[in-house]
Amino acid sequence: MARLVCAQGHVVSTDRFIDDLWNGQPPPRALAALQVYVSNLRRVLEPGRAPRTPARVLVSVPPGYRLALDADEVDAWRFPRLVDAAAALLVQGRPAEALDAVDEALSLWTGRPYAEFADEEWAVPEVVHLEELRTVAVEHRAEAGLALGRHAEVIPELERHVTAHPLRENAVRLLALSYYRAGRQGDALAALRRTRALLADQLGVDPGPALRGLEADILAQAPSLDPAPVVRPPSLGLTPAAPVAPPPAVAPPVRARPPAPSRMVGRTGELGRLVAAAAQAGDGFRIAWLGGDAGAGKSTLADALVRHLTEQGWRAVVGRCPETTGGVPPAWAWSEVLRDLAATTPPPPETAARLAPLLTDDAVPVGQFWLARAVGDYLEGVSAPLLIVLEDVHRADEETLQLLRHLAVRLAGTPVLVLLTHRPAEAGADLVTTRAALAVQAAEDVTLGGLAEDEVARLLVERSGVEVGPATARTITERTGGNPLFVSETARLLAVDGPSAAHALPPGVRDLIRRRVARLPGTAQTTLRTAAVLGREADTDVLVAMPGADEETVLDGLEAGVLSGLLEEPRPGRVRFAHVLVRETLYEDIPRLRRTRMHGKVLAALEAVRPGDVGALGHHALASATAATALSAAAHATRAAAQASALYAHRE
Ligand SMILES: Nc1ncnc2c1ncn2[C@@H]1O[C@H](COP(=O)(O)OP(=O)(O)OP(=O)(O)O)[C@@H](O)[C@H]1O
Ligand SMILES: [Mg+2]
Repeated sequence: MARLVCAQGHVVSTDRFIDDLWNGQPPPRALAALQVYVSNLRRVLEPGRAPRTPARVLVSVPPGYRLALDADEVDAWRFPRLVDAAAALLVQGRPAEALDAVDEALSLWTGRPYAEFADEEWAVPEVVHLEELRTVAVEHRAEAGLALGRHAEVIPELERHVTAHPLRENAVRLLALSYYRAGRQGDALAALRRTRALLADQLGVDPGPALRGLEADILAQAPSLDPAPVVRPPSLGLTPAAPVAPPPAVAPPVRARPPAPSRMVGRTGELGRLVAAAAQAGDGFRIAWLGGDAGAGKSTLADALVRHLTEQGWRAVVGRCPETTGGVPPAWAWSEVLRDLAATTPPPPETAARLAPLLTDDAVPVGQFWLARAVGDYLEGVSAPLLIVLEDVHRADEETLQLLRHLAVRLAGTPVLVLLTHRPAEAGADLVTTRAALAVQAAEDVTLGGLAEDEVARLLVERSGVEVGPATARTITERTGGNPLFVSETARLLAVDGPSAAHALPPGVRDLIRRRVARLPGTAQTTLRTAAVLGREADTDVLVAMPGADEETVLDGLEAGVLSGLLEEPRPGRVRFAHVLVRETLYEDIPRLRRTRMHGKVLAALEAVRPGDVGALGHHALASATAATALSAAAHATRAAAQASALYAHRE
């Protein structure tokens, strides 16, 4: 019976039945045994049925059996429908009816679904689904209670709920809002901050826009947090129903305004190209790609585009692909986009219900295809031309990219520009495939390189607040490759330490580079470290000739370095670190003792393959000098000095 209920009224084939009942190891006469079970069950289900009349509940349908019951006649089928109905009623601003529906739904709950069968393989997905829905139902009940002004009543149940599900942002949002309305602002803020810490700790993400907005609003005591005027059901049923209150938004409509952006330096050409892409999108869905290393200024430029187009009457929304994937709901970037849009342009109730997996935290799984259709329907109805920024798609999950591909086709005639920011060195296979698939819709592909020297100079002055001479600006441009993040970090040091900071390595940048290096395979990291000992540039021959080096491993490591953007290949047989800062970070992270020994190995390699390079020999000889090797080091150094002075380069 449980197996039939689990099939939701669909046919369960006899093969399937036999397999599931005997866990793949059926006895010899399994089919006959199954038929006995069925006829026993039929006697229980239809006790009054005359012999030889067809069964009406547990019916035979080739190739098996099904339950011919109405959804309302089976509690496990009725429960999800009631919860859905409650959701729709909430969206329509009918909290009293929603409360009735959800109460009825929860009253059907008498214990663990499927009881002793709950752990059977065929039951598990359904049990998980029902249990998930139950948590959603509890939140719907709270939402309805809140809308009816019963904040004090909903608090105890929500507290229990949040304790059991501390990462459910929607639950925390409701609890904090209830506290606030009950005059307990301190508790409200504490709940939000606990969740922030927990999310950071366990998932490495910030709270979503709903929680962030709520926190800002609580601090500002925003009037939007006060309960909407409640329409109580007419007590005697004599007065006609008053017009309904505005629907409680699916996510709170308010969002903290981002801090005022600091001025953007340069990038006018790039901005112009993106604006032109937007003009093309007036005819229908277009995509613009915006690539660059970490800190190249992608988000800054995307912001500038958002501001520019908003002034021209566009709607603009941003979704981000979170840094971690563990525990983050699928297609999270789209969730952010849709929640933001829905706050000002609520979808019609029917669409809202279909979009629920993206709009609420109650991620009841829905087929991807249907979800994508719902998103398409909704976006098609947004009146203004729309800019959607998806940030950092190099770490987008499969669902995010699939939805994008679906929309590219679905919205072919709708004015939408999707701006995709990404770090090319970190693109995975999924992104590469998506790029190929979306070639037709791609209107623009901008790659951000370094800022020019005069731009670096302007950025330095702006960020450090001190005068910066042309020599300092040149040094910093060279060392940072014009990367705005590196420049900004250096500017902070300039402000404190003066021009000498131009040569220092800012701590923030160091971490960033370490993170990039750490992503490479271990053997590649070793190769890069060795290359760093050689200097800003290195000969592959020398690297391969290092004692203990394996040619394949070295070449693979260098290739990984080039692919990740940490190394460049100025000409065949030579590699060069993309920024001095990369080389310095790698080098300085090698413990001193080890460094000395590595210089010794480099020296050995140089003696073998570049015996004429006395400058390099001298340098590494000195760097590797210990008491034992001091004599030969001195000899190398003397020869190097002689050659250098012959070239009038004694500063070398
Ligand atoms: N054109 C610019 N003018 C002034 N400052 C800039 C410019 N571009 C970037 N910055 C500054 O550099 C830093 C990094 O920029 P941003 O966050 O836009 O980089 P990003 O490419 O989005 O990096 P990530 O890949 O890490 O997301 C920020 O502090 C930003 O203010
Ligand atoms: Mg960014």
